[in-house]
This record gives sequence, structure tokens and C-alpha cells, in this order.
Amino acid sequence: MKRLEGKSALITGAARGIGRGFAEAFAAEGATVAIADINLEAASETAAQIGDAAYPVQLDVADQDSIDAAIAGVVVKAGKLDILVNNAALFDAAETVNITRASYDRLYAVNVAGTLFTMQSAARQMIKQGHGGKIINMASQAGRRGEALVLVYCSTKAAVISMTQSAGLNLIKHGINVNAIAPGVVDGDHWLHVDEMFAKLEGKAPGEKKAEVEAGVPAGRFAVPSDLAPMAVFLASTDSDYIVSQTYNVDGGQWMS
Ligand SMILES: NC(=O)c1ccc[n+]([C@@H]2O[C@H](COP(=O)([O-])OP(=O)(O)OC[C@H]3O[C@@H](n4cnc5c(N)ncnc54)[C@H](O)[C@@H]3O)[C@@H](O)[C@H]2O)c1
Repeated sequence: MKRLEGKSALITGAARGIGRGFAEAFAAEGATVAIADINLEAASETAAQIGDAAYPVQLDVADQDSIDAAIAGVVVKAGKLDILVNNAALFDAAETVNITRASYDRLYAVNVAGTLFTMQSAARQMIKQGHGGKIINMASQAGRRGEALVLVYCSTKAAVISMTQSAGLNLIKHGINVNAIAPGVVDGDHWLHVDEMFAKLEGKAPGEKKAEVEAGVPAGRFAVPSDLAPMAVFLASTDSDYIVSQTYNVDGGQWMS
């Protein structure tokens, strides 16, 4: 028996990268998956490539009406919502003295408020259904400690770890498990963007920051989404029924806690 057979999942930011990898793994385990993304065109392409188990949903996690409409849309399409992965997030980097209000507001709107209020809307639906659910938040190694040029992003991911703890304690009485995954460095568009930002801020050549970071990973390489997907499947399945409020490092040995 597949581990997510008959389950209905929504993954935010699933048009590409880690979210897409999770969607492929969930579909392979028997779930129906909403590919929810601010970029509907990319979400539609991804869903079509995954096949019948996936469908696209327009979602801006920074917009409450959009969140509520996306959850309602999943219920119309799949009849219920069993699993939410809060994966959509933005990155930025700057010297502390150069951080802008606009960057702060946007990262907090997407990474923190987006995670909280998508979790809330999903939890309301799961409570209404009356048979529990699974919520997985994407944290980061960046939430475990500060980084000199990454104050805002790091603090949003620390907030995700904290919100996972409180929401998990509050929602387990409804049979809803809230847990998080903290990746280290994962290859893809996100890291291309990170590398470009560091090239500008630290005067490095393109690819130089990425190579430096890779050299410091105990496992010897960047992750790919399929390195993280087994943890997401585990947390989405009944195997995690007794796991509450935890954040799991899946980072090739970069952080221990
Ligand atoms: N890539 C890494 O090295 C890494 C490391 C640690 C944690 N993470 C976390 O993992 C998650 C996924 O990372 P990724 O590398 O796949 O990112 P990514 O940038 O490749 O993909 C993010 C997706 O989110 C979507 N998105 C952006 N804003 C949105 C919004 N307002 N509403 C809905 N969708 C939106 C984008 O369109 C994109 O499809 C993020 O939470 C990220 O912080 C990534």
C-alpha cells in the first residue's frame, strides 16, 4: 500500500524546486496534490508534467483572500484537505545597515505571515473535517543561527521553527501534527539567486560562493529535492502520528540540534 493513498495535499510554492520535488514524491505515494504557486503558468506546467495526481492552484501566500480561496478550491477539487506543506518563501541578503523596509515587509509577509495564515486556514478545514491532518513547514538551517548578511531571511526561518512549536502544541488535540524540515543547501533556482546576491555583496565571481559553501557540507555536496522528499513523506504519513512540534535537520550534517 502506498503511504499517502487517498490523501489530499496542498504544497505552496510547488511550481519548482523543493516543493515540486515533494509534489512528485507525494503523487508517487498515492496522494492528490495541489501545486499551489504565485506563478500559475509554472504551476500548470509542473502539474501537467506530474500527471493526473496533480493540479495547479493560484496562490499568493501573502494575501488572505488568496489563501482562503486556494484551500476552498482544494476542497472543491479533492473533497478534503489532509496535508499542507508551507514551502513558499523568499530570500534576500544585505548589510544590516542597508536592509530596507520593503525587503523586510515582503519577506515577513511571505515567509512568516504566509506560513502562519496558510497553516491557520488549513487547520480550520482539517478541524471541520474531524479526522486530523498533517502540516509541514519549511524552515532552514538559516533559522538555527544568524548569518552576517542574511538577517531578515534567517529571522523569518527562526520564526517558522517557533511557530511550528506553538502551533503543534495547540493543534495536536485535533489530531493535527505540525512539524518542520530544516534543509541546509539545496541546488536549484533559489541557490542561483543566493549565489548572485553574494557575488554582488562580497565581490565574488559567479559560482564562487556556492563552491565555498559546498566545500563546508559534511556530506560533500549540495542536496537535491529528492534528498528531502523522504522526510516530507514520512511527516505527511501516519508514521509521524506521535511526532509533534519538531524541526528535522536534513542538511548533510551541517547543523546538530
Ligand atoms: N534551496 C535551499 O537551499 C533552501 C535551504 C533551506 C531552506 N529552503 C526553503 O525551502 C523552501 C523551498 O525552497 P526552494 O529552493 O525550492 O525555493 P524556490 O525559490 O526555488 O521556489 C519557491 C517557489 O515559491 C513560489 N512563491 C514565491 N512567492 C510566493 C507566494 N507569495 N505565494 C505562493 N508561492 C510563492 C515561487 O514562485 C517558487 O515556485 C523555502 O521555504 C526555502 O526557504 C531552501
